[in-house]
Amino acid sequence: MSGILGYMGKRNAIPILLEGLEQLSYRGYDSAGIAVFSEEKELQIRKAVGRINQLRNFLLHEPVKPGNSGIGHTRWATHGVPSITNCHPLTGCGEQFIVAHNGIIENFPQLRRTLLQEGHIFSTDTDTEVIPHLLEKYDTGDLEQTIREILPLLRGSFALAIMSKAQPQVIVGVSQDNPLVVGFGKSESFLTSDITALLPYTRETYPIKNGEIAILEPEKVTIKSTAGEVREPKRTIVEWNVQDVSLQEFEHYMLKEITEQTKSVEDTLAGRISEKGIVLPELDPLLLAGSLSKITRVHIIASGTSYHSGSIGKKVMDQLLNIPVETSYSSEFQYDHPPLDEQTLIIVLSQSGETADTLSALREAKRFQSPIIAITNTPGSTVSRKADSTVYTKAGPELAVATTKSYTCQITVLIMLAIWLAEKLGSRDLHPLPELMTELKRLPEYVDSTLIMTQDAIDQFAQVTYDQEHLFLIGRGLDYVLALEGALKLQEVAYIHADAYAAGELKHGTMALITPGVPVIALATQNQVMDKLISNIKEVKARDAFVVGITTIGDELLSEVVDQVLYIPNSHPFLMPILAAIPLQLLAYYSGTVRGHDVDRPRNLAKSLTVE
Ligand code: F6R
Repeated sequence: MSGILGYMGKRNAIPILLEGLEQLSYRGYDSAGIAVFSEEKELQIRKAVGRINQLRNFLLHEPVKPGNSGIGHTRWATHGVPSITNCHPLTGCGEQFIVAHNGIIENFPQLRRTLLQEGHIFSTDTDTEVIPHLLEKYDTGDLEQTIREILPLLRGSFALAIMSKAQPQVIVGVSQDNPLVVGFGKSESFLTSDITALLPYTRETYPIKNGEIAILEPEKVTIKSTAGEVREPKRTIVEWNVQDVSLQEFEHYMLKEITEQTKSVEDTLAGRISEKGIVLPELDPLLLAGSLSKITRVHIIASGTSYHSGSIGKKVMDQLLNIPVETSYSSEFQYDHPPLDEQTLIIVLSQSGETADTLSALREAKRFQSPIIAITNTPGSTVSRKADSTVYTKAGPELAVATTKSYTCQITVLIMLAIWLAEKLGSRDLHPLPELMTELKRLPEYVDSTLIMTQDAIDQFAQVTYDQEHLFLIGRGLDYVLALEGALKLQEVAYIHADAYAAGELKHGTMALITPGVPVIALATQNQVMDKLISNIKEVKARDAFVVGITTIGDELLSEVVDQVLYIPNSHPFLMPILAAIPLQLLAYYSGTVRGHDVDRPRNLAKSLTVE
């Protein structure tokens, strides 16, 4: 999992590559490198282990001459440790071809074995290195043609930016089940793993499709099929702008993105609630095709935090629809799923729209002709292109590795979708819908109040977590799913061993871990299970745990049994996982910062995981 960038134009490529790589660094930050042809056509490669700043520092000591064409890479190590040797861009032994790669070449062991037998000398532990060696082996004298020769030999999912010493004025981009986008500027062009890196230069883009290659030359970009036919790319104008990706007054993207949730939820709801019900015209094709009238089951598939929002969606649909709803982790679904058919509606959730596990699960579901709805935050992403219909979350670009605003927007979309399906397919009980719709309209207001009510209190509580190694989160029903998400955020950003339990389950084993002073967060936003939850809290209090309760304004029961209580606005029970997520996100953020961690770039992690 890595970020790729390419520049071809009239400006000096070096600052453009460095700034773009900084923007892409959420995709990997183990090491970074650039390869630039100077104006004298000399190939210059510089690499550094660590963040883009290390590369910048290295360039101060070993500068490169300006040049108008180059590629760059920021790496999340998959094959081979983070090191200068394994850092991209890579060349083969003849140093003729230069390659930046994201993804996995699955058959690299076989290719490497053959190349070794043929006398190629490998110097890295990466799967990527087979590519420059293959290019040397099949060199036709023309970069584009040579790439066409070797593509059929590669298996896996990969995005590539390739240059050749023989043609310094050409960069070729290849995308195979792995994102790579062309950006069109004035007399300049770009390649990038993610459009956010292009926003300072252009908003006119084209995502390269499977079976296509993009050829960037000084005054033109040509898209061709791998067979060589020229294709006319349908350019898209990206809605986001450069302000959306700048930190503004914030120290970290994570805090910026948490506080942006009022707007992101508002944008996600905009135009989708009318007097008559929920408006989702993007689903009309499925309705017109008659695919939805046959539905007898729903299966929701996602990874990580998106899986948690999917699990909230399942519980809401369980209440609103008359049909069974299941959830699966994407990484499990491909090998293990119940019988599927065209009567099973598949819902895939992915912020990035590029998560390899989710894409594989989607492909698996497609084999059974199941209708597929994608919920994603990324226009033009692979998930949106492969699904039958896509409903977008409108969270805007999310650059912190830990997802926050996309999570709350995903739940918002899932609730709208649940109401929409209840209206179209019939509901167990249409009674709760008007109240739910009224509360949905007020959701941005509630989100705003939650931010105001909890930010300072959580900042203070987070100081207590400074030296904690363990923390428990408990809840029942929707609060239990939320506890799972809260635990994931704390693990990821604060490196606290946080664990979530269905509150009633502690007594069946985990209670043995409750020792005096251990922090327990009790989520109490679901009135119908409050009495039982209070009994469970008393059980942990009897073992002297330090309990912080999160409940709604007006509740008087919780404060009597917990050590500290935090109030959030009271809304429809289905909307509470959105509101109560906010203090948990803030807790992960403030705990992470008080413990001295880089909250935007947690260790060992990356966003948009394009490897399985
Ligand atoms: C956690 C987090 C991850 C992602 C997961 C799926 O904060 O961000 O768990 O939710 O990698 O990513 P998407 O939604 O892009 O498929």
